[in-house]
Amino acid sequence: MQIISAVTEMRDAVERLGLGGRRIGFVPTMGFLHEGHLSLMRHARTRCDCLIASIFVNPTQFGPGEDLDRYPRDFERDSALCSEADVDIIFHPSAADIYPDRQAPSAAEIPFACGLCGVSRPGHFQGVVRIVTILFDIVRPQVAVFGQKDAQQARIIQQLQQDRGLAIEVLVAPTVREKDGLAMSSRNAYLAPREREQAVCLSEALDLARSAYAQGERSAETVKRMVGEHLAGPDTIAVDYVEIVDWRTFKPVADLDEWSLLALAAVVGRTRLIDNVNLSGVEWPGFSLRSSTA
Ligand code: PAF
Repeated sequence: MQIISAVTEMRDAVERLGLGGRRIGFVPTMGFLHEGHLSLMRHARTRCDCLIASIFVNPTQFGPGEDLDRYPRDFERDSALCSEADVDIIFHPSAADIYPDRQAPSAAEIPFACGLCGVSRPGHFQGVVRIVTILFDIVRPQVAVFGQKDAQQARIIQQLQQDRGLAIEVLVAPTVREKDGLAMSSRNAYLAPREREQAVCLSEALDLARSAYAQGERSAETVKRMVGEHLAGPDTIAVDYVEIVDWRTFKPVADLDEWSLLALAAVVGRTRLIDNVNLSGVEWPGFSLRSSTA
């Protein structure tokens, strides 16, 4: 496994891979890897000849007062995990090398970025689109894999690919969960024991919603109320939003159908967590409901 920091060196390596006709798979990450990231890598691994993972805590997607400075980092451990996951190249650039003087896209240019997390984290998706565009340009992958946990991000990137006609297959792989159901996230490391205990309510609420859908409930209002009531119980949880959108448009819906995604965000203690569920379990385009096994 190679570790490359310089953008020019990464571009050269990609050029050589292209000349050799190698199919590049790409998993962008902000590091502090967990099983969720590794499962994205396994997903990508089966679809490429050369697997590149980036580790870069992207400053432009954090707002003022957010956790950029304390975002957990452990490059040594991450490298060992990447090596076990059969990554060929880790791209670990510096912010100075990535952002010499490029302009951020404006919110208006980014479909699906205005609602949900776009409201609570203004500028976040502009930062995500900015870095993903730069990374795609440097790494030039044929396939890139994103996690369903960040569903709005994944949908925005899928649309970016379509709108710009990028020759990249953008895949969305399932959320990996802890034994009790909590979605894996690098930010779970912030949770105090009591918060960690209560955080399980997020995935419990999603399970309630899925069961209601399976039993024939089709009113978005009813399902959102049910979820809200479940999250109102624990004293460390403050709901940011509970919304049900159509996966294709990311617009809120009143009546549930096979395109309905329930997404929620809540602050547990001081930690903002997100989670979501595809209510019908129908596989949407580019969307996989099965984890790749090692
Ligand atoms: O999902 C993440 O970890 C980040 O948003 C990403 C896609 C690596 C861009 O910084």
